[in-house]
Amino acid sequence: MRPLDRQIVYFNGRFLPAGRACLSIFDRGILYGDGIFETFRSYGGKLFRVRDHLGRLASSAKAVGMALPLPAERLHAILSECLRRNQLRDATLRLTITRGSGTPGDLAPRTDPAHTVFITAKPISPPGPSQVRQGVAAVIIRRFRTDRQGVPPRSKTTSRLLGILARREAKDAGAFEGILLNDKGEITEGTTTNIFWVRKGMLYTPPFRAGILPGITRAVTLEAARRIGLPVRLETGRPARLYRADEVFLTGTSIEVLSVSGVDGRRIGTGRPGPVTRRLQEAFRQIVETETHSKLAPPEKRR
Ligand SMILES: Cc1ncc(COP(=O)(O)O)c(C=O)c1O
Repeated sequence: MRPLDRQIVYFNGRFLPAGRACLSIFDRGILYGDGIFETFRSYGGKLFRVRDHLGRLASSAKAVGMALPLPAERLHAILSECLRRNQLRDATLRLTITRGSGTPGDLAPRTDPAHTVFITAKPISPPGPSQVRQGVAAVIIRRFRTDRQGVPPRSKTTSRLLGILARREAKDAGAFEGILLNDKGEITEGTTTNIFWVRKGMLYTPPFRAGILPGITRAVTLEAARRIGLPVRLETGRPARLYRADEVFLTGTSIEVLSVSGVDGRRIGTGRPGPVTRRLQEAFRQIVETETHSKLAPPEKRR
């Protein structure tokens, strides 16, 4: 793998080594976290669900009142070029757009911003084989909550302090992921993942109105559930619903579908990936293989 500062990045119209991409200290992305981003995934050199990711980027831009500086097709072409220039096949790419330079102390954005646009790409670092085989631990975050009426949880903005603090709390508790509750104390999502649970053969995941990011992997998982004839309910509830679940799993662009073995130290089901999770992992894999014309190793062998 190339060292980070030698990877080729796209930066405001040019491809160059990351070490030579210099951002102004007046960039509003740095001053205020005034920006949006999107994380893309490639399999065998092909971008997966790129249109869905670009659609979500457009929604994020709309939510924060920002015009996308480049059309979606152009962004798509640049993302593919980033993969090619870095000779990457199984990778994650991050596209960041900020509202460009500003004046410290002046929160109001300019009406004619010169956006900062950059893309970085790195080889995928999936969960380790034992995390896939055994599942991971999660904890409910108690100190911070998602505010359904706050900065729209539905958009991917570069202001990530809630997620950062929650992740820190989870890490301190020795967990892989922290599950955020909303202002009503209901389950929403992980810091960078969506959450599902299974109870008596029914699959549950919180609806958008609970205050979640509309995960692309969540959507693919719901499609996978339909394909295998699994009944689904978009519902949320108190954390006890997770404690009592037969299975719990997380979804996300990098982790795909990852089993949760315990929540707050309470074992979920057998404490191992359950049959529904495994069926969905398989159905997910088939969707990826069909759409990207690639052959994936089973999740526990993919590293
Ligand atoms: C808060 C949050 N929820 C859910 C997700 C999962 O979304 P996706 O499946 O599109 O990666 C992410 C991804 O970064 C996230 O940041």
